[in-house]
Amino acid sequence: MSRFTGRTAVVTGAAQGIGAATARRLAGEGAAVAVVDLTAERAEPVAARIREEGGKALAYGCDVADEDAVRAAFDRVAEDFGGLHILVNNAGITRDNLFFRMPKADWDAVLGVNLTSAFICAQAAQVRMVEQRYGKIVSLSSRSALGNRGQANYAAAKAGIQGLTATLAIELGPYNINVNAVAPGYIATSMTAATAARVGASAEEHQRAVAERTPLRRVGQPEEIAAVVAFLASDDASYVSGQTLYVNGGAR
Ligand SMILES: NC(=O)c1ccc[n+]([C@@H]2O[C@H](COP(=O)([O-])OP(=O)(O)OC[C@H]3O[C@@H](n4cnc5c(N)ncnc54)[C@H](O)[C@@H]3O)[C@@H](O)[C@H]2O)c1
Repeated sequence: MSRFTGRTAVVTGAAQGIGAATARRLAGEGAAVAVVDLTAERAEPVAARIREEGGKALAYGCDVADEDAVRAAFDRVAEDFGGLHILVNNAGITRDNLFFRMPKADWDAVLGVNLTSAFICAQAAQVRMVEQRYGKIVSLSSRSALGNRGQANYAAAKAGIQGLTATLAIELGPYNINVNAVAPGYIATSMTAATAARVGASAEEHQRAVAERTPLRRVGQPEEIAAVVAFLASDDASYVSGQTLYVNGGAR
């Protein structure tokens, strides 16, 4: 398999979880991957593992909500690898709380990292994608976009990703840029382990409860999201744009 030979991919929030699995998947299929996380030190183990596995990867540090930092990092990626063909907006955080007691600072932080970051990164990436007349942008939304108790900030950000995706598909489509989103259900990562801890459950107990109400009777794994991101980032999905694909084990 080498769907991404000759392509450069940026994956944000790629030090762990879904981002790390996506970076490894894209690299495994031939992409040169920029493993981006808050610091290069955090991202380096994933980049090193990809190189050990025979792939091409370098680690970069930047806060995806900081426009200047993103532009500087993306310039370095393009210099290091040549071009920038695939952007995966994956970095995300949660600051869950019931709406009536949610501090505005937590609203701002979650909107910044989950939504404004996608605006900033896509704007930085599209410059090169337009020049190349080729690009793929895939952003992580969430099932929570449909509404989730304790996640007014996160749900709004993830619904925002869907609107941004639909609009960028319209504006960037004429330049042969596909823009799509993936909306995972419950995936076993540090993010969901932290959610379990907040409600006083172990990760296993929490996963078991979610699995019981999921048609496929299990939670998802990061690699199962990475596979769908890779599809949307590939020319197998060349006529798919402006879509949000729910990947949630059949949950309604
Ligand atoms: N795990 C799930 O069940 C689930 C479900 C739906 C959507 N998602 C989304 O998928 C994406 C990945 O989730 P995950 O579970 O792998 O999360 P995770 O917490 O395991 O990893 C997120 C990564 O993003 C990085 N990050 C956080 N803030 C950053 C910033 N400002 N700049 C750069 N990097 C930053 C973190 O350091 C971390 O490495 C997120 O957007 C999340 O909202 C996850």
